[in-house]
Amino acid sequence: MMLTTFLLLALCLVTHGQQDLVLSQGSCPDIPVQLNFDLKRFEGYWKVYEAFGAPYMVGMSCVDFIFEQASDDGRYVNIRLEGDRDVKVLGFKIWTANEIYYGKGTVLDDVTDAGWSVLFGGKPDNYEDRTNYFILATDYVNYAIVYSCIQPAKLPIISESCFILLRRNGSPPAEVSTHKFILKSYGVNVTNLNKVNNYNCY
Ligand SMILES: *[C@@H]1O[C@H](CO)[C@@H](O)[C@H](O)[C@H]1NC(C)=O
Repeated sequence: MMLTTFLLLALCLVTHGQQDLVLSQGSCPDIPVQLNFDLKRFEGYWKVYEAFGAPYMVGMSCVDFIFEQASDDGRYVNIRLEGDRDVKVLGFKIWTANEIYYGKGTVLDDVTDAGWSVLFGGKPDNYEDRTNYFILATDYVNYAIVYSCIQPAKLPIISESCFILLRRNGSPPAEVSTHKFILKSYGVNVTNLNKVNNYNCY
C-alpha cells in the first residue's frame, strides 16, 4: 500500500509539469531567501547557466527564463521557460525545435515577495496554494539562484529543482560559489547542478 502510494506520487510529480526536478527523500529545507526582493529589478531575461539534471532537461540547450510582473501589486508573475532541443533521426540532427513553457507565480506570503507558488501548465491542484519556488539570492544585474521544492502530503519525498541564472553568457560571479555552499549546508545536493549548453545560441 505504502509502495503504491509512493509510486503514484512519484508519477504525479513527474507528470505534474515541473520542467526540471530531482526526486529525493526528506523534507523541504527552510532556506533563507533574498532580502527586500524587488520583482521589478528581477524582471526580464535570464540565461540558465546550470540546472538540476532531470530527464526533461537532457538534450536541451540555450535555455532561458523570462520573468514578468503580471499585476500592479506585484503578487503575480508570468514565467516563460524556453530552450532548443535537437531532433535527431538515426543519430543525425535534422532539426532544432524551440520549446516554450508558460508558468505563473503567485506571492502568497505577506513577509516576502521572494517566494512564489508556481505552476507550469496552469492546472489547479493541491500544490497551488503552497509557496514552492524561491529566489534565494540575486544581485539583479548578474546572477540569481532559484530553488524549488515540493513536498506533497507530508510524505518523506521531495521534488527539487534548482537553477543558476545569469544575465549574460560567461562565468558566474564569485557570489554564486558562496550560495552553492549555503545550499549544500541546507542539504541540497548541488552536484545535481549541470551546466546547460548556452553557446551558439541566437
Ligand atoms: C548527490 O547527487 C549525485 C548525482 O545525482 C549522486 O550521485 C549522489 O549520491 C548524491 N549525494 C547524496 C548525498 O545524496
